[in-house]
Amino acid sequence: MHILEIIEKKRDKEKLSKEEIEFIIRGYTNGTIPDYQMSALIMAIYLNGMDDEETTNMTIAMANSGEILDLKEIDKTIVDKHSTGGVGDKVSLILLPLVASLGVPVAKMSGRGLGFTGGTVDKLESIPGYNTEISTEKFIDSVKKIGISMISQSMDLAPADKKIYALRDSISCVESIPLIASSIMSKKIASGAEKIVIDVTVGNGAFMKNVTDAEKLAKTMINIGKLANRETICILTNMEEPLGYAVGNNLEVKEAVKFLKGEEIPKDLKDVVFELGAYMIKLAGLGNDLEKNKEKLQENILNKKGYKKLLEMVKNQEGDITYLEDLEKIPKAKFVGKVISDKEGFIEKIPAKEVGKIACYLGAGRERKEDKIDNSVGVVLKKKIGSKVKKDECIVEIFANDENKLKEAVEKMKEIITVTDLQKSLKKPIKIS
Ligand code: URA
Repeated sequence: MHILEIIEKKRDKEKLSKEEIEFIIRGYTNGTIPDYQMSALIMAIYLNGMDDEETTNMTIAMANSGEILDLKEIDKTIVDKHSTGGVGDKVSLILLPLVASLGVPVAKMSGRGLGFTGGTVDKLESIPGYNTEISTEKFIDSVKKIGISMISQSMDLAPADKKIYALRDSISCVESIPLIASSIMSKKIASGAEKIVIDVTVGNGAFMKNVTDAEKLAKTMINIGKLANRETICILTNMEEPLGYAVGNNLEVKEAVKFLKGEEIPKDLKDVVFELGAYMIKLAGLGNDLEKNKEKLQENILNKKGYKKLLEMVKNQEGDITYLEDLEKIPKAKFVGKVISDKEGFIEKIPAKEVGKIACYLGAGRERKEDKIDNSVGVVLKKKIGSKVKKDECIVEIFANDENKLKEAVEKMKEIITVTDLQKSLKKPIKIS
């Protein structure tokens, strides 16, 4: 077998065999296939696609490129959760302690943010002391002992995906259905869960810009799940505007804590948390009635069991819970700027991707892997799409530690937000299984 023949085949729109796909993944992971040849192949896949069989073979080969976590020791049905990525996406911080407080065991490996999207691990690490890099033994023990652990994805898990994802990112080949599906499902299979709930984001701030493509991605992942014996449910959710109000690491932690305490619950965030949560409870075998499951989630916000579970997890992973108990202790950025509406009307657009880029520019995210994160910077929306706004009212607050960056961010934000005379509303989550 030769890599050039495989590249030629895909370039000429032919189907790759299981053996060819295994050869590529093995060769690229161990370094015998160089970046330039893999780039050519990835671009050919991006342009010419792969069918379901090729995508499944690629997924399995990527999952098998490293360690496959064995969660059998936990002795309960593990339901994993994943999101295809977005802006202001703090769903895991809220949803996972909440379902864990209802008895759904949570063994979650999350990623860091790259580009304009945030990552759960960076948000968790903005809690002083929180350790996302505990050993696999402590990870499993924590799930057995307190029902939840959230850590950073182990280096040994699907290493082929790590290399291929970084390559795709550097050659503008991220937005491809077979490549996204194999990337996500290889990690889910390697992280050991039997059942998987995936939040497939759609819109300006997501990889899938329209519902047709998002449905295709969802169906591809569900199909891979079937072939790999992992029950998979996908929920399509809106990512036209940032989710909730806050974008930026410790700003999102604050929003998550207020949500779990029942103090401030943004409607769009609640729709996503409750929809995914209802299915996680169902897949865990703890209740088939989705509406009743949502009531249970509501109850554990009111009685603060979800919030207490978050504290328990943070404490178990060496985090300082006094920062969560007293949100005033969380470090604040030095400068705050406001974006003021110059007319009355309804908010038409707050494009998630551009908001994510502004937060990233302020230091909330990384342009490159080695960049350091600034935990206290970001933006907090005061209005959402469809909200009424008066002239001179504040639409967004921007938090920065650099005055010049703040000025630029305020100007940029003014350019991207639009106000109109007609009110627009956003769609609710759609389930595909
Ligand atoms: N998330 C992933 O894990 N992989 C992708 O390719 C896109 C989103």
